[in-house]
Amino acid sequence: MQKLIAGNWKMNGLASSLAEIEALKGLTGQATCDIVVCPPFTLIEKAVAASKDSAILVGAQDCHAQSKGAYTGDVSAEMLAEIGARFVILGHSERRSAYREADASVAAKAATAQKSGLTSIICVGETRAERDDGTAIEVVRAQLEGSIPEGASSSNTAIAYEPVWAIGTGLIPTVEQIEEVHSAVRKVLEERIRADGRSVRILYGGSVKASNAAAIFQVPNVDGALVGGASLKASEFAGIIAAAV
Ligand code: 13P
Repeated sequence: MQKLIAGNWKMNGLASSLAEIEALKGLTGQATCDIVVCPPFTLIEKAVAASKDSAILVGAQDCHAQSKGAYTGDVSAEMLAEIGARFVILGHSERRSAYREADASVAAKAATAQKSGLTSIICVGETRAERDDGTAIEVVRAQLEGSIPEGASSSNTAIAYEPVWAIGTGLIPTVEQIEEVHSAVRKVLEERIRADGRSVRILYGGSVKASNAAAIFQVPNVDGALVGGASLKASEFAGIIAAAV
């Protein structure tokens, strides 16, 4: 399966940051994986222009569940598709915790994204407390059950397993822990969408760097990465992309 490497810029980046996309183009000409950069809303259109004539695709970090209406401050999947976004990250743990985004809301957003032709990257992952009390698999299963919409397929959905305690901390689960969760995610996908569930890409996210990417990509059922901090610098992000053979 061709790996998918997605960079989540979070709330970082001004117009000057587009130079990183220009640099990334130069560094990833030979890449054999799919590459996505998800800048803040304000830079999406410019990022699409900057990545023209390259393999780099652009995504957003959220969208609303409705396509239009009285939702002050929100942006719809249709609007994102119109300006050239191809992906959207949904249910990131930062949104689940800061905005109390529930699984049903993530599923509703993913359903609209699907209608607009966007590929959803649906995020799941346990907290430190859940890891410590042995419920990580249970938590991830429940999040998946609630967050994957009807009609999900390998062409409109990817899953990102991001343990909350590994995000921005430099901490990484063991290879065995990643393998255990990714295999549980695969099982849910096969139950939910049958044979095509085998082709849905399952990304690992949380403190991925150029120096640890190759080891993570060796793990069965790891089909790519969702990268935060290390995606902000083209040279570091390119190192992760190079490891995704
Ligand atoms: P870091 O790579 O900075 O740990 O962030 C991971 C993440 O949240 C990507 O969505």
